[in-house]
Amino acid sequence: MATKQESPMTVGPVIDRRMFLAGATAFAMASGPARADSTPQLVARPGKARLLSTDYPETPIWGYNGGVPGPELRLKQGERLVQRLVNNLPQASSVHWHGVRVPNAMDGVPGMTQDAVPPGGQFTYDFTPPDAGTFWYHSHNQSTEQIARGLYGLLIVEEIDPPEVDHDISVVLDDWRLSETGAITEDFDRMHDWTHAGRIGNFTKAALLPQVSRLRRNERLRLRLVNVAVDRIMVIGLHGMAGAIVALDGMPLRVPERTDHVILGPAQRADFIVDVTAEEGEQALLAIHERDEAFVLSHFDVGASGQSVSRGPIAPLPPNPLAPLATTQGAQMARLVMEGGAMGGLRQGIWKGEVLSVRDLVAEGQIWTFNGVAGLPETPLIEVPVGEIVEVPMQNDTAFPHAMHLHGHHFQERLADGSLGPLRDTILMDRGETRSIVFRADNPGDWLLHCHMLSHQKAGMKTWIRVTT
Ligand code: C2O
Ligand code: CU
Repeated sequence: MATKQESPMTVGPVIDRRMFLAGATAFAMASGPARADSTPQLVARPGKARLLSTDYPETPIWGYNGGVPGPELRLKQGERLVQRLVNNLPQASSVHWHGVRVPNAMDGVPGMTQDAVPPGGQFTYDFTPPDAGTFWYHSHNQSTEQIARGLYGLLIVEEIDPPEVDHDISVVLDDWRLSETGAITEDFDRMHDWTHAGRIGNFTKAALLPQVSRLRRNERLRLRLVNVAVDRIMVIGLHGMAGAIVALDGMPLRVPERTDHVILGPAQRADFIVDVTAEEGEQALLAIHERDEAFVLSHFDVGASGQSVSRGPIAPLPPNPLAPLATTQGAQMARLVMEGGAMGGLRQGIWKGEVLSVRDLVAEGQIWTFNGVAGLPETPLIEVPVGEIVEVPMQNDTAFPHAMHLHGHHFQERLADGSLGPLRDTILMDRGETRSIVFRADNPGDWLLHCHMLSHQKAGMKTWIRVTT
């Protein structure tokens, strides 16, 4: 990692001239309305959040229960989740439980697993998450706009026997595009964003849950980093703390990976376990790294080492019920070629069953294709009986990175040496790369496979698989 500064780090120059620098303050959260019955509610509605300093007005947002992030839902592994979405927005909406291996009807994809919930409508989600880990929920309707406005929250499923830490802190990383008055800019339909790297903001912020600002030397932390940005890839560095990544996208690593930074594409998560190594009077920091510069997202004042004792090496988290694949023998292959976007050389694409020139595609707001098709194809990328192993070699013939997300399953990457990487639900692919994912299709239903750069998804990058019983 190109870290110029040693901690304590000073705030570097801004990323662009409109970039504000973030503090460690959690967003204001409003409480939900009175309930008619005892079903917990996620009320999607307009609200206000204090994103910027008090020199600015509060930011009008859309949030679950009016706050951003929405309520942090915490369950023990094996506990059932029941949440009623109440839609008090001017647009239809739905909730997707990102990374959770839900039954198909609970996946929250309008037009595929449910109807979008109209303004004034309701929908009750009811399932038991099988895996412990760090997950998140978000709107899956007009998501480029709805997530950019704040419709997301964390779902933490606690291990039955969690690792012992002094603080378990969720770090919600978002990238906002704000006007001079601190309002979310409403330029959600900029074709230039869609054809390039997406809606990249001018204000990156880490919301901490709970809002911790003081630590003691030698304390052990669990940091749950979640990139909820619509399009921005983030390189997050940890300073004044040392430890390892113990889980990616909610799934435990067999061997914790010692590192001081992580690259998170949109929707990706990393759980760290770290010990505070900064001296008393110094600061521990979370920073975002852009090119050769680092910007502080959160800082913690470090006090004298307290009662905290050294807990020895960082152990792996207890495994989840989903075991990594032992073999990929007999895998059914489904190739996926990604094309389009600016500088991609796309000439034509299929849209709603017709071959269109690029100019006509752009007129439809479409500019990316999977296997020549823009938008959701009529037929799935592959249809397999439940239990089959599927391998999807993905070839990125575009000039941009993409964060490919499969619903309802975790997959493993087939690495260059033939071995399989860790379980993930979203894989960040660089331009020009070909990477292959493999998984057991063990969850019946129709499942999206799409780019989680939501601008790219909107402008064409989505397909689906069908798992039959
Ligand atoms: Cu985070 Cu299609 O989802
Ligand atoms: Cu993409």
